[in-house]
Amino acid sequence: MRILLLGSGGREHAFAWKIAKSSALDELFIAPGNAGTQQFGKNVKITPTDFEAIKSFVIENTINMVIVGPEDPLVKGIVDFFEADEELKNISVIGPNAQAAQLEGSKDFAKEFMMRHNIPTAKYGTFTKDTLEKGYAFLEKMKAPYVLKADGLAAGKGVLILDSLAEAKKELKNMLADAKFGEASSRVVIEEFLKGIELSCFVLTDGDAYKILPEAKDYKRIGEGDKGLNTGGMGAISPVPFANPTFLDKIKNQIIIPTVKGLKSEGITYKGFIFFGIINVKNEPYVIEYNCRMGDPETEVVIPRLRSDILDLFEGVATNTLSERDVQFEERSAATVMMVSGGYPEAYEKGKQIFGINAVTDSIVFHAGTDADGPAILTAGGRVLAVTSYGKNVESALAKSYKAIEKIEFEKAYYRTDIGFDVV
Ligand code: AMP
Ligand code: GLY
Repeated sequence: MRILLLGSGGREHAFAWKIAKSSALDELFIAPGNAGTQQFGKNVKITPTDFEAIKSFVIENTINMVIVGPEDPLVKGIVDFFEADEELKNISVIGPNAQAAQLEGSKDFAKEFMMRHNIPTAKYGTFTKDTLEKGYAFLEKMKAPYVLKADGLAAGKGVLILDSLAEAKKELKNMLADAKFGEASSRVVIEEFLKGIELSCFVLTDGDAYKILPEAKDYKRIGEGDKGLNTGGMGAISPVPFANPTFLDKIKNQIIIPTVKGLKSEGITYKGFIFFGIINVKNEPYVIEYNCRMGDPETEVVIPRLRSDILDLFEGVATNTLSERDVQFEERSAATVMMVSGGYPEAYEKGKQIFGINAVTDSIVFHAGTDADGPAILTAGGRVLAVTSYGKNVESALAKSYKAIEKIEFEKAYYRTDIGFDVV
């Protein structure tokens, strides 16, 4: 198969690493990729949302399958674009169409969907500029802390959690009347605050059958002890120690099955990954959010634990034969620790040379934000490298990643030293 993979982060490097192991692979291209993905294929300078440029590339290079890493192209309708085009309609795209991607693209759509299918989630109300007063009244009936969510995609910044009612009202107005997050906050979901511990679950589906992938837990805050600003994710572990078989069964029966069946029953064709952001409240799982793609950095621990040929599974998705495909996982645990640029998630510098990656022999160094400059590798983003290791348990995997990180250097590098602190 000739594959085009879209995206440029650690998630895409992990996909490229895994795709390169497939016996079905003829050639892999990554658009735009990073300095890590080019070890496994050819990087091409195309933005994942430039559908016309993708079309030309796919035709010129006789691509058979496009695998979409990030949510943006999916929510913007890359699948629909391919299906509507005479020259592209027979090329498989791994990812949901625009309607199905609304599970991530619209919080209100996701909430209504969960209500219709009795999927456990926080109580909520949805408001617009015209119903701002009703929004205030809704807040007055809730207890602190107050959770406000921009309905649309807001680059991971659209969720506010506020301690005081006055602040919550002010932010609701900012979002609705003053377009704090632009069009994304023209509708706002106000939610009941759920107290518990979070984990991420993943499914690959062809619309009928589904395969459950290993669960993971990511660490979103910049500071130790989960303090400070939110980031894209500072590390991840898999499996998640508190996710025992009873709890995972509840997730499967109360959340995963009703989601896959619910989509099908509504005539929504979902092909690709579904990411379930789950919170454990007194041993009961609730959905915090859906994403229409794999998580990052969760992919950097989940994909290394997949033993099966990933292109075989993707072919199953493309041809509606996922039920016939075998999926096997590693017994070993995996952990990843993210090395980031100093200052991230606020302002940070780029273009710092990275040393020591080749000295790492016992771990896998996935690139997240890097650029190649001849033989040199430079930092090119906030999140720079995800250092993944296997271990007989999460602790030993983490210990290996921390040992590997000591060998890697770049100016103002920062990482959390306490990934997994709350569960191991
Ligand atoms: P989301 O983008 O919906 O995942 O929200 C971002 C983060 O906000 C989540 O990972 C949670 O940590 C937190 N969060 C979102 N919704 C709730 C809620 N209803 N109760 C408590 N925390 C929440
Ligand atoms: N790690 C969370 C996400 O990918 O959204």
